[in-house]
Amino acid sequence: MIYLDNAATSYPKAPGVAAAMVNALTQAGGNPGRSGHAMAVAAQGVVDATRRRLAALLGAPDPARIAFTCNATDAINQALFGLLRPSERVITSRMEHNALARPLAELAGRGVAVDSVAAAPDGSIDLDDLARALRVSPARLVAMAHASNVTGCILPAREVAQLAHRHGALLLLDAAQTAGVLPLDVAEMEIDLLALTGHKGLLGPPGTGALYVASGIKLTPSRFGGTGIQSEDEQMPEELPERLEAGTLNSVGLAGLGAALRFLSERGVAAVRAHEMALTGRLLAGLKDIPGLCIHGIADPVRQVATVSISLRGWEPIDLAAVLDSSFGIAVRAGLHCAPAAHRTLGTFPSGTVRLSAGCFTTEDEIEQTLRALDQLAQTPT
Ligand code: ALA
Repeated sequence: MIYLDNAATSYPKAPGVAAAMVNALTQAGGNPGRSGHAMAVAAQGVVDATRRRLAALLGAPDPARIAFTCNATDAINQALFGLLRPSERVITSRMEHNALARPLAELAGRGVAVDSVAAAPDGSIDLDDLARALRVSPARLVAMAHASNVTGCILPAREVAQLAHRHGALLLLDAAQTAGVLPLDVAEMEIDLLALTGHKGLLGPPGTGALYVASGIKLTPSRFGGTGIQSEDEQMPEELPERLEAGTLNSVGLAGLGAALRFLSERGVAAVRAHEMALTGRLLAGLKDIPGLCIHGIADPVRQVATVSISLRGWEPIDLAAVLDSSFGIAVRAGLHCAPAAHRTLGTFPSGTVRLSAGCFTTEDEIEQTLRALDQLAQTPT
């Protein structure tokens, strides 16, 4: 199989992930932060090590300001519902995944003002449009994806953060498609809130994610319950990360994520980025030579991650993806990719696109084979 669905979830996972998860179940099977016996202490050690490694990867000065979540959606929900109050205003874009769009729609129903900045037909967002939206009336938050899960287009996050701050707003960055894929430094980029998942570019298992909360920002928890600390208190503790981590953590998943983070720190995210940029450059160049094939997006390896959306004349996306799988063993995703607004912007609603998403372990040869398969299908009458 040629796996080009890394935007949905990465495959394979980093070396050592599965072994670390087995080890957590068999050697560190206690409940982290609860009991005092050796197995619970070992589980706490695993969780702490993963938190420290993630803080190092994100450039977060204090690991405690990273709360573990189930996934990026969970982190985004915590950030939005924990921060925004009725009558406050949030600015988003018309390229967002439902992970952000649906909680915002729910908040709009509860009296939060939600405004969306339009994107160009290639999916890119003009910062002048964002500046205009910020000038119209005060906003509490700008909430956007760091890279589109449909086109791969990268948001200039540092500029967006600075623009938001100039207008008194915070930035929530949805890094579901960029954590582990683009070098990140939340302090240097001035990111206030960053949501990520463990199972995509971080090369860890599903069921893991995190929310980074910059110093000085206090969120209302979106879940309430046991934390292992201050059990005598009726209220959730003030301290992070416990304030945002009610209930038993996914220590097994976090052990796997810790192994993935070790691998990434050894390889270096910059090296991963260089590899994926080279693959994307070759993929885009080859796709441009295929008759009847349309690339939806900016088609620029420097300004996008390794996610490329295409359509092929005469083919429904769902059929093209099916034949790539059944006849060529190439795994891609077809449809709306949970981002209907993005497809309205791109003009690909409701059928969507076929999305090719290379990853850390994709090879040049796999890209060449994919180009040959698409070229062959472009010549095939349907
Ligand atoms: N959000 C994931 C995707 O874009 C699942 O496919």
